[in-house]
Amino acid sequence: MNQNLIDLAYLAAAVFFILGLKGMTKPKTAVRGNLFGAIGMLIAVLVTLFAQGVVGYGVILTGVVIGSAIGVYIALNVKMEQMPEMVALLNGLGGAASFLVAGAEFWRASSAQGVDAIAATGLSGLIGAVTLSGSLIAFAKLAEFKFMKKVKPLPSQQVINACLALFILLLLFTLVARPAQFTYWFLVLSSFALGAFLTISIGGADMPVVIALLNSYSGLAAAATGFVLNNSVLIIAGSLVGASGLILTKVMCDAMNRSLPAVLFGTLGPTADGPSADEVYKSVKSTSADEVAMLLEVATRVVIVPGYGMAVAQAQHAVRDLTNLLKSKGIEVEFGIHPVAGRMPGHMNVLLAEADIPYDLLKEMDEINSTMEQTDVCLVIGANDTVNPDARTNPSSPIAGMPIINADKARTCIVIKRSLSPGFAGIPNPLFANQNSLMLFADGKQAVADIITALKEG
Ligand code: TAP
Repeated sequence: MNQNLIDLAYLAAAVFFILGLKGMTKPKTAVRGNLFGAIGMLIAVLVTLFAQGVVGYGVILTGVVIGSAIGVYIALNVKMEQMPEMVALLNGLGGAASFLVAGAEFWRASSAQGVDAIAATGLSGLIGAVTLSGSLIAFAKLAEFKFMKKVKPLPSQQVINACLALFILLLLFTLVARPAQFTYWFLVLSSFALGAFLTISIGGADMPVVIALLNSYSGLAAAATGFVLNNSVLIIAGSLVGASGLILTKVMCDAMNRSLPAVLFGTLGPTADGPSADEVYKSVKSTSADEVAMLLEVATRVVIVPGYGMAVAQAQHAVRDLTNLLKSKGIEVEFGIHPVAGRMPGHMNVLLAEADIPYDLLKEMDEINSTMEQTDVCLVIGANDTVNPDARTNPSSPIAGMPIINADKARTCIVIKRSLSPGFAGIPNPLFANQNSLMLFADGKQAVADIITALKEG
């Protein structure tokens, strides 16, 4: 195929990628955006396969078959609440693919590569390996593997990180000055260690920021590999992922009231231990579905605050039925959506959209907080960290300074969850013991169904 045609096809793919990203900025156009992105990728893959002088199709076909089989199996079996772990793994695999491809090209053609290609190879190795190990640690933290609770940063972790980063830079310069296989793979190994160290330091509730950042890194690694291969569509696609991931990281940092450098250098982390759960939960009051139904009957305004537990319980359809029932009784219902509720950006929005809950009922944190004092009942369904008032009032809390939904400011706050277990950040929540709080201990879906039954019977 003529090089101009190849460039034109790659340009078309890049335009589809950009239209895809644009489409994903609004729920209404998100499906179309996804389709545009897929079309762009199809063009890029087909042109690469048929016009780039592929040596043999056998290995590629084998890889495609094995990869597709694994992909289809995962897609069919992954539960909605496991999506963030999957995203973390996919980011990591993207990073690994980048440093492996760059490494293979370096193996094949290092003697013919210019300084710029070797520098790009080194960058791909560095960023790709940081992405892989960081994503594996993020995966283990999200999956709440028990051994992760024992893995703690060392007291002088930041000094070690800084020394390791300097050493990696030195390796990068050495690679450019004297290209050698050993230097490249040693650089990859050292970067792998750095990625793990940086991510281990990040504590509980700050993981969303890390995942967004790792997503951005996986794009940057791909862009660097694009320079190694001189492949324009890889450079463009990688840059788009890198830039949009960085913007998402900034949005997350703002939402969590965290500084970007603190995330970049892994200096976020747990602070002092707070009071024990027993102390905090001395005055917890529990309630029943019947009592909740009575409170809802006499309310004029109800705010529902969903969290990760709603995803686990798959309670979104029951929540829609409750919303419709309350609205049919003339009660005003709105949803308070915290930007990091759940386990991935937009998690609650996606679930509520899946249940056809009108998008205009969903209010962002600042908007809903301004109305919380005029709210009769705040119904918290499986949320914990995102409604923890310690973030506002306790400067030594690991989540200090993180903006929350002020569920405690409603006239009555009902919290639906199965127990007094902590949320992702692993800390107690004084909201549960507040004077105006009542706990409904149950699975989210069952509890909402019971409330609906009680409302219909009442
Ligand atoms: P969490 O603080 O994680 O709390 C979720 C609560 O849901 C738990 O306390 C759990 O209590 C309850 N739960 C679990 N299964 C349930 C079920 N079947 N029915 C009812 N309740 C159930 O949730 P959140 O408020 O949404 O906060 C999200 C946290 O995850 C934040 O710390 C955030 O930083 C972090 N995070 C977010 C993201 C993104 S991007 N959104 C990514 C990674 C991490 P029980 O076990 O007692 O039921």
